[in-house]
Amino acid sequence: MKILVTGGAGFIGSHTVVELTSEGHEVVILDNLSNASRKVLKRLSEITGKQIPFYEADIRDRAALTDIFRKERPEAVIHFAGLKAVGESVRLPWEYYENNIGGTLALLDVMRSNDCRNIIFSSSATVYGDPAEIPITEACPKGTCTNPYGWTKSMLEQILTDMQKADPAWNTVILRYFNPIGAHKSGRIGENPGGIPNNLMPYITQVAVGRLEKLHVFGDDYDTPDGTGVRDYIHVVDLAKGHVKALKKLAPGSGLSIYNLGTGIGYSVLDIVRNFEEATGISIPYVIDARRPGDIAACYASAKKAKDELGWEAENGIREMCEDAWRWQSANPNGYEED
Ligand code: NAD
Ligand code: UFG
Repeated sequence: MKILVTGGAGFIGSHTVVELTSEGHEVVILDNLSNASRKVLKRLSEITGKQIPFYEADIRDRAALTDIFRKERPEAVIHFAGLKAVGESVRLPWEYYENNIGGTLALLDVMRSNDCRNIIFSSSATVYGDPAEIPITEACPKGTCTNPYGWTKSMLEQILTDMQKADPAWNTVILRYFNPIGAHKSGRIGENPGGIPNNLMPYITQVAVGRLEKLHVFGDDYDTPDGTGVRDYIHVVDLAKGHVKALKKLAPGSGLSIYNLGTGIGYSVLDIVRNFEEATGISIPYVIDARRPGDIAACYASAKKAKDELGWEAENGIREMCEDAWRWQSANPNGYEED
């Protein structure tokens, strides 16, 4: 299938491009490089052995999108493009709503004008808010988001749902990711946050590589086994493979489907520190700090629906996630700045 991957130069998008290509799909990447490096493209061609067409373009730019659709005629879109930093979204709500919602509305409009109504959308476990039950099934009601980023995902899910209802020709898959970490086994692509990382694993790998002094653990008084926050960490390559499996839900008449992509296993912050130390032999100094506003105690998926309906389940355990995150970070201490 010919697939346009928006945000395809980013962390999850780049790994998905590799998996799509290895399954024989034809891929076109669109990215405005606001949170990605052009060097990803060279590394993708190294890994895949293919030159993947790339458009430096913004999803808010209808003229550019229209040109790309007319030229490339993709049959489906996997839509990763968006801003994703929770704290930044609290400071810059307008920018988040405009980029994520404005951009997706433009994309959907250009898609339907070009008779392409197959979309896989990157959503997040954040739409469950403080979940009513764990493990979280897709039937669990959406909750109150604690930041504008989360609301953009929740609102975009609603927009996609309403559009599909109004026009059943749309085939829509909403994937709710849990916590993607790790990197491609080659160590050539991985997560490359700008500035000080917000997320746990890139923070740990930057401590390990000596860029940061110590980890700050946000709270040890949650109602969890060791008091630190529990999350469902998933290897980014497994997550990428979930998208390849989800393509089958874009067959005509499929309607709209929603899947959690997680492992179903919860690890605490201190579990992650310990597993990272065991996998790498590097000790991670840490201090316990106050809770981070907006964080919840525990969040992990029921991964049953994706297994039953897509035949997908995560294959990598926490050991591989730690090893692969470290292989990427140690070979690229400053991310893509190296070459
Ligand atoms: P990322 O920032 O690495 O990738 C997003 C890509 O989109 C970047 O390359 C960026 O340059 C591009 N982009 C942003 N705005 C754009 C625009 N207007 N036009 C064109 N390109 C644009 O992030 P990621 O971690 O790969 O996340 C991919 C998607 O998955 C995002 O939608 C994110 O919200 C969602 N998600 C991520 C996580 C996570 O923890 N990483 C969890 C749940 C959901
Ligand atoms: N944590 C620390 N110290 C840090 C960073 C994180 O203790 O420096 C803790 C957090 O308090 C939390 C856990 O590590 O308990 C995981 O935090 P992350 O920031 O890595 O991930 P979150 O679960 O907070 O959020 C992530 C993405 C969101 C997404 C959500 C669900 O950042 O965008 O997963 O998919 F919505």
